[in-house]
Amino acid sequence: MKGVVLAGGLGTRLRPLTSITNKHLLPVYDQPMIFYPLQKLAEAGIKDVMLVTGGNSAGDFLRLLGDGSEFGLSTLNYAYQVKEGGIAEAIGLTRTFVGGDKFVVILGDNILEDSLAEKVAAFEDQIDGARILLKKVENPSDYGVAELDGTRVISIEEKPESPRSSYAVIGVYMYDNFVFKVIDSLEPSARGELEVTDINNAYLKKNKLHAEIIEGWWADSGCSIDGLLQAGIMARKLRGGDPI
Ligand code: G1P
Repeated sequence: MKGVVLAGGLGTRLRPLTSITNKHLLPVYDQPMIFYPLQKLAEAGIKDVMLVTGGNSAGDFLRLLGDGSEFGLSTLNYAYQVKEGGIAEAIGLTRTFVGGDKFVVILGDNILEDSLAEKVAAFEDQIDGARILLKKVENPSDYGVAELDGTRVISIEEKPESPRSSYAVIGVYMYDNFVFKVIDSLEPSARGELEVTDINNAYLKKNKLHAEIIEGWWADSGCSIDGLLQAGIMARKLRGGDPI
């Protein structure tokens, strides 16, 4: 199983903090944001990772992360996304790296309490298809939202004005090789990006999308300045800090 961490984008929701740097290099408590997803992958036993980034700060990731050995990785590879073409476009850049393997994608601004080890093991046992993780949230309109029938996903909508549930699709996605065929067939959304939600809906249409609700806390530290602050407070707990 391989791992992919996505760390591109302009981080417009965090300006002016991101005016001259990539949001994934900003501090979340005592570590750069990008450390958290790399640690999650390593903890789940994923040792071959590709980081996709873009923009003017790309070189800073190399200086900060090097060959990934500090995180216990065997290899840390890098890909450059020229434009802000969306999450699905960024995943498409990992095609050669992934080869014939299955892989786990984690968005570089997502911070999780739970280990991914069990979820990754479940995906290893899954013959084919995709696996997504859901979390009940108070502000579903900020995320991809899954409409559910019990635990079965019926539809996923990207940042809906009137969400059909409170379950956000968090930024951890597990795919088989079929994902690259899906990406080749995608059209840009209204915001001009290839959407990860369209990938997940393509798997759903083929009845190959498994979803699991996570228990522990989850933070999208790139969604707003307050989200970043909240993520820092949660990360402090994760890192063993006493209550403030
Ligand atoms: C992205 C996805 C969205 C998902 C979210 C999780 O949104 O498009 O479906 O729920 O990540 O962090 P973004 O935060 O990139 O706008």
